[in-house]
Amino acid sequence: MSQWTNQSPEQEKMEQTGRNPFASKWCEAARSAKCPPTLEELLKRVHDLPTLPHAALKVMRMTRGVEVSPREIGDAVSKDPNFAARVLKLANSSYYGLPRSVGTLTEAVMMLGNRTIRNLTIVAATHQTLSQDLPGYDLSANELWKHSIAGAHVAIHLAEAAHYPYTEEAFVAGLLHDVGKLILSIYVRDFTEDIHFFMKNNVCSFVQAEKAVLGFDHGEVGGHIARQWNLPTPLVQAIAWHHAPLQKGQVIPLVGITHLADFVCICAGIGVGTNRVGEDLSDGVLETLNLTRNDVENALTFITEMMDETKDTDAVLLPKAA
Ligand SMILES: [Fe+2]
Ligand SMILES: [Fe+2]
Repeated sequence: MSQWTNQSPEQEKMEQTGRNPFASKWCEAARSAKCPPTLEELLKRVHDLPTLPHAALKVMRMTRGVEVSPREIGDAVSKDPNFAARVLKLANSSYYGLPRSVGTLTEAVMMLGNRTIRNLTIVAATHQTLSQDLPGYDLSANELWKHSIAGAHVAIHLAEAAHYPYTEEAFVAGLLHDVGKLILSIYVRDFTEDIHFFMKNNVCSFVQAEKAVLGFDHGEVGGHIARQWNLPTPLVQAIAWHHAPLQKGQVIPLVGITHLADFVCICAGIGVGTNRVGEDLSDGVLETLNLTRNDVENALTFITEMMDETKDTDAVLLPKAA
């Protein structure tokens, strides 16, 4: 696979230190010309941070590692009637092949199971937001959504291969890993020329140039959004570090799974946009997860076949029943 090239000394240094060696010098120059905002300034300026329905967050929290009854889940979702209607519509879609249509959330949970409803809830909560076009990242409408849902499926696949116990968390991490792009797209667009100039001069990936020019990348912005949503710390870390999984010489398993899932989706050409250049597999990820390059190839085959099989339908956009 051509993306599996050796890292440059600068990339190695960045992986080891967690800091981009280009960043400070470049940012000084870039800021003096155009002044990109600091991350704090950016977050203060953004008044419309993406939101998640309270009911979706509640279901995620209440089903995390504990058994809850279908009734409890049904009650939590039903508190938000508009959202409950979206979840029910998805549950009744032909993809799940229920023998009859269900009229209540409790019934849907009983027939599909907690795991499927949990994933279906988070999909219903994010579908619209993640489907918008993001010109800064060269993504037209639906492209980020396809990348996100493919990332979620690959993350579960890899979690199972790595015997990582919290597969549901892997699904959510894969789904939400690029959420920071929603906010950053407009700023990236303003600095596109600088980013491309930096990439050309330093032979680096778009994300490295994004961080060097702006001072932060979409992962860090996404981590902030995840914190605002009160998502569990492992999910915040997975979103924030999905492009820099090696932190202080270590890779946290969920961060590694998210990085690898993103890498596989990029290799498969799903919703790639500006990430098409220079994306590489980080050191330490395969070792941490006890996976081999064969496992990565298998994940690539898995998602390529899934996308091919469902080419003319939107079935792949939905979380598969357990
Ligand atoms: Fe990303
Ligand atoms: Fe991504």
